[in-house]
Amino acid sequence: MLCLNVVRLHSIFCVEMEEERSKPEFAVVHNDRKFSNMIQLLHLRNLFSKALVKMPRDYVVKMIFDRRHFTYAMYREDGTIVGGLCFRPFTNRGFAEVVFLAIAHGDQVRGKGTRLMNHFKEYCKHELGINYLLTYADNFATGYFKKQGFTADITLPATQWKGYIKDYDGGTMMGCRLYQHIDYRDMSGSIREVIKEMCHNLAKNAGEGVIVYPGLSDFPYDINHIPGLEHVNHREDGWSTKTGTFYGQVSSLLAAVMKESFSLPFREPVSDSHVPGYSTVIRNPMDLSTMRMKNDERWYVTRDQLRADVKLMIDNCVLFNGPRHEVTRLGNETVNFLMPRIDKLVEYAIDDSDIRNKKLRV
Ligand code: ACO
Repeated sequence: MLCLNVVRLHSIFCVEMEEERSKPEFAVVHNDRKFSNMIQLLHLRNLFSKALVKMPRDYVVKMIFDRRHFTYAMYREDGTIVGGLCFRPFTNRGFAEVVFLAIAHGDQVRGKGTRLMNHFKEYCKHELGINYLLTYADNFATGYFKKQGFTADITLPATQWKGYIKDYDGGTMMGCRLYQHIDYRDMSGSIREVIKEMCHNLAKNAGEGVIVYPGLSDFPYDINHIPGLEHVNHREDGWSTKTGTFYGQVSSLLAAVMKESFSLPFREPVSDSHVPGYSTVIRNPMDLSTMRMKNDERWYVTRDQLRADVKLMIDNCVLFNGPRHEVTRLGNETVNFLMPRIDKLVEYAIDDSDIRNKKLRV
């Protein structure tokens, strides 16, 4: 009879399975002869079999019940399993093999896979003394693994792992080094520390003419009150006139106006099904999505081209709705938002042939 043991983690430290159901979010589940815990591995088997459709069921069962393997399980608040990562530790070789992992169907692509992996990394570092992970990543999931720091460039010496890892058709061997000084459960904190160190080094080595500000004790309510920020021309509405190509500036500006509530009637083309008779009155329609599409095709190279389309959009609006209509009021707000910002866009040297080509295409 297969008997299993579940050791739950209290944060990252192990606690017995029989603990209360207001239990930790993570647990290491292992077949070590406790019948009560068989249930947990059966749930995990179901999860893996559903999510890893190409993996034969028998193989999944064999792996998770194999006593050299462990499964790092992640639980919902109600105690049901939301994800799992089956692994085999090779402690004296300094790595763990990630055999497979999965998040329940309805919970995928919501950050849970990242959370599971980050906690697992801390568990490997602190509980197993392991600083390297290896896996044969399914080719459909290599994008996920890359985002977790895995790469096909394995830096662990081959003598340490060759012959110890299971390989699969349609998979890519990937590895991930774990760093002691990074807390994977608090990536934003770790990134903050790195940025602080970079700023400190930059300030220390700053040459003449570079202004070094003392730094912030509190984050200001208004971002524009950060000393020095005006020099790099950052704006609260998320776009900058001094950086990037003309295309990039227009793209940020259109994204910014589309976030404003008053731009709602102008975000998409007006269709006759929503506004009967529109196309018979308005011969040259214009809206923000069309402008974004034109920008994506690099049509706009001057401020005037952009202004012309904004003007066309509001002229159409006045023509169709009249000057006192609520939609026209919103249109005027949209124009008032756009025009002063268009004035500040930075144009670059323009190749005439480029403009001619664009004119011909329209
Ligand atoms: N391909 C490419 N990118 C992906 C994939 C994928 N299959 N899945 C997630 N991502 C991206 C997300 O878009 C997200 O990107 P972002 O940070 O830019 O927003 C990032 O990876 C992190 O996504 P999470 O939401 O944390 O991932 P999720 O909770 O969905 O877990 C997992 C990822 C485990 C792959 C899950 O989608 C799943 O169970 N898939 C089905 C089973 C599977 O393919 N397992 C891996 C097989 S390979 C192996 O086991 C060794």
